[in-house]
Amino acid sequence: MSTFKDKIDLTRLPRHIAIIMDGNGRWAKERGYDRIFGHQNGVTSVREVTEAAAETGIQYLTLYAFSTENWARPQQEVNALMELLVDTIENETPTLNKNNVRLKAIGDLSRLPEGAGIKLQRCIAETSKNNGLTLVLALSYSSRWEINNAIKLLCNDVKSSKISINDISDETISNYLTTREIPDPDLMIRTSGEIRISNFLLWQIAYTELYFTNTHWPDFRKENFYEAIVDYQSRERRFGK
Ligand code: IPE
Ligand code: IPE
Ligand code: MG
Repeated sequence: MSTFKDKIDLTRLPRHIAIIMDGNGRWAKERGYDRIFGHQNGVTSVREVTEAAAETGIQYLTLYAFSTENWARPQQEVNALMELLVDTIENETPTLNKNNVRLKAIGDLSRLPEGAGIKLQRCIAETSKNNGLTLVLALSYSSRWEINNAIKLLCNDVKSSKISINDISDETISNYLTTREIPDPDLMIRTSGEIRISNFLLWQIAYTELYFTNTHWPDFRKENFYEAIVDYQSRERRFGK
């Protein structure tokens, strides 16, 4: 049986894939369950896609797990998501190490509950020597928060004469974002049918290829991931030239 995996050209892989993991709530509601059941099932998709990315040789995978706007959801859902996050990170650390995956996190991590923050930092430290896939979790992340934060840091450095205004280049700005050291995404995937970016990596996606699918996140499997890569490889990236 021919699969999308066989159609991938391994010499032209996207270096960085970012995913807006959407549709957990709708997936659960359609089955008569509480939204939280959808989040729980979304963990399987995270595991599958991380494994697929590592096996294929993708260098960076960024997953939008929780936005700054998501803090405004009902407290019960926020708590459940935080708990799920902590449990998953703890349980998956040995697998990440086995697969040579290094974990990173971007976002306003100071807003995470203390226990979640500690466990997250522990997993980051314990996987920091791995040099295969870099898995970036966007947690309490939004692009406007990130850009606002970068401007504050940059203004401070101008004020203390660490940098002069005339030297501020696009590269300088990139270096003040939480994604410094991470290349811009080549491909961004959003599941569950919404055609919007929802405050994700606005600066970084200037020339990213966008891919939207109706599949809800808890149904997203390796083949769906490979299909997106094959679609990406059919496109001509011109970068304005
Ligand atoms: C994505 O699923 C997960 C998070 C945003 C945390 P949603 O919870 O947004 O599910 P829908 O989009 O309402 O179906
Ligand atoms: C975007 O999904 C955030 C994450 C996937 C973590 P949302 O469900 O929060 O976005 P909107 O409300 O549909 O724009
Ligand atoms: Mg949603």
